[in-house]
Amino acid sequence: MRRKLAAGNWKMNGTPEMLAELSTLTGGEDGPQILICPPAPLLTRAADVTLGSKVEIGGQDCHANTSGAHTGDIAASMLKDAGATAVIVGHSERRADHAETDAHVRAKAEAAYAAGLTAIICIGESEEERLGPDCLDIIAAQLDGSTPDTATADNTVIAYEPIWAIGTGRVPTMAQIVETHDMIRANLTARFGDAGAHMRVLYGGSVKPTNAAEIFQAENVDGALVGGASLKASDFQPIIDALA
Ligand code: G3P
Repeated sequence: MRRKLAAGNWKMNGTPEMLAELSTLTGGEDGPQILICPPAPLLTRAADVTLGSKVEIGGQDCHANTSGAHTGDIAASMLKDAGATAVIVGHSERRADHAETDAHVRAKAEAAYAAGLTAIICIGESEEERLGPDCLDIIAAQLDGSTPDTATADNTVIAYEPIWAIGTGRVPTMAQIVETHDMIRANLTARFGDAGAHMRVLYGGSVKPTNAAEIFQAENVDGALVGGASLKASDFQPIIDALA
């Protein structure tokens, strides 16, 4: 059994006032795991607000090194100290804005493991790649290159996010979601055996209260990484509920 996960990525959005919404999120006793990744300056406050609740908090990125002369960067251990249990690595916006390669992402995931954090490793194709003949091979190569050999079902979550579906209101067909997630599962199982069968694979890209239940029907979709619809509890709670 893979525990469902509803993860919210606030990206460069959020105010201290918005944190109050976090304490209202609920998933029931045996419900899905709930994670919110606010911008780093809000992490400590978010940890305070969610103390004793079902909501966990995470970072949006970490550096591959543990410390040093890296102005503006954050070490995984610092996220852990701030109360994070997880960190997103390799989001397509970081790959695009900061020229992060699969090798960088893999190194960041290893840094997350060393700090005791779960790495949420993001992969996903551009629209041009989706329309081409090698789409699944491209995603498989990203998965392979971005995931460390030391990945386990506990320390790793994979997030499949088609770039063209992020923030656009466009979502792949269910057939595309099923095919891609099944391919990811097959690759994880071939590489990691039982751990790969138990590793969670999230879908991300324009998940909304209106489409979540359908997306979650796919056998190898274990939850979602949600951007815009995680900013308001009134949008995110129905997505959590669709996983229960
Ligand atoms: O990491 C989540 C994200 O990229 C999806 O964003 O706004 O399309 O849900 P959104």
